Amino acid sequence: MSTELKSAAAVSHPNIAFIKYWGNRDHHLRIPASGSISMNLGRLETRTRVTFNPALTADRLILNGEPTSGKQLQRVQTFLDHVRRLAGIDLYAEVESKNDFPTGAGIASSASAFSALALAAAAAAGLQLSEAELSRLARRGSGSACRSVPGGFVEWLAGEDDQSSYAVSIAPADHWDLVDIVAVISQVHKPTGSTEGHALAETSPLQKARLKSAPARLEQCRTAILRRDFEALAEVSELDCNLMHAVMMTGARRLLYWQPATIELMHAAGEWRRSGIPVFYTIDAGPNVHLICPAAEADRVAAAAAQIQGIKEVLQAPAGSAAHLLAEEVNL
Ligand code: PMV
Repeated sequence: MSTELKSAAAVSHPNIAFIKYWGNRDHHLRIPASGSISMNLGRLETRTRVTFNPALTADRLILNGEPTSGKQLQRVQTFLDHVRRLAGIDLYAEVESKNDFPTGAGIASSASAFSALALAAAAAAGLQLSEAELSRLARRGSGSACRSVPGGFVEWLAGEDDQSSYAVSIAPADHWDLVDIVAVISQVHKPTGSTEGHALAETSPLQKARLKSAPARLEQCRTAILRRDFEALAEVSELDCNLMHAVMMTGARRLLYWQPATIELMHAAGEWRRSGIPVFYTIDAGPNVHLICPAAEADRVAAAAAQIQGIKEVLQAPAGSAAHLLAEEVNL
């Protein structure tokens, strides 16, 4: 057994999906029931260092300076077990991870968390993996994490098994100056997490129709991004978001994430668009609204959103780059 410390650190951005991932073909491997398309969120970052240490008798996870236990730690241990199997090592690791965006701000931190963890753990374990292999590895931690590995505008190719399910960049971050204005309505942790939510998706009678029409929306979204066609992206993204929420609301257990302020912003986005401001909404598994607009409109949209009753905070994020390793000496 090795007595050497093996350490590596990585940084990754979260992402916001225009075409959503909701429902799995294989829950254990997190193979999705359909593809999805997202934009990485620049400025917001998770930084993670992994150190495999022969002196440890168990894995440790330190999140924003606090040691963790329970489910959060277990999920990271399961992920590290997979990395250890791939690398043929048996050392426990200390994982230190920091988000520079507020936890519970309605931005899914699991995407940037498992993307940064995949890069840092693979490098620390001595694995040399391609971008596609790193994306596949990140997917095992959290499905949407596979989309935070490549840069800019990203498509997760659903695939049908572990080998064929990973994400690729369809355009770099500087391809289009879109900004995500996150209108935070609640900072409370969601009562039903997405792992549980994905399992409920197939119990909605609407999921079949949603999946059947997904390839057409993926095509429309990809084309809209490549042509920088804002109207087309707005239309297909709002439709796809509504379809996901319709499935959420009609499963064996009802998942109704919207609050009054959520609906108010959905109406406002439509009114602003009709009045000539290019903006659309999208919403994940929570009440917070992501307003997408060109950079030139960002301050105006953020100011208007902040006026709406029930909005606690407004964040802005432009398109972000790929996950990457940090130099050994960098502090998190
Ligand atoms: O990666 P997960 O299991 O947290 O699922 C993400 C689900 C949504 O955020 C609601 C949609 C998406 O595609 O990001």
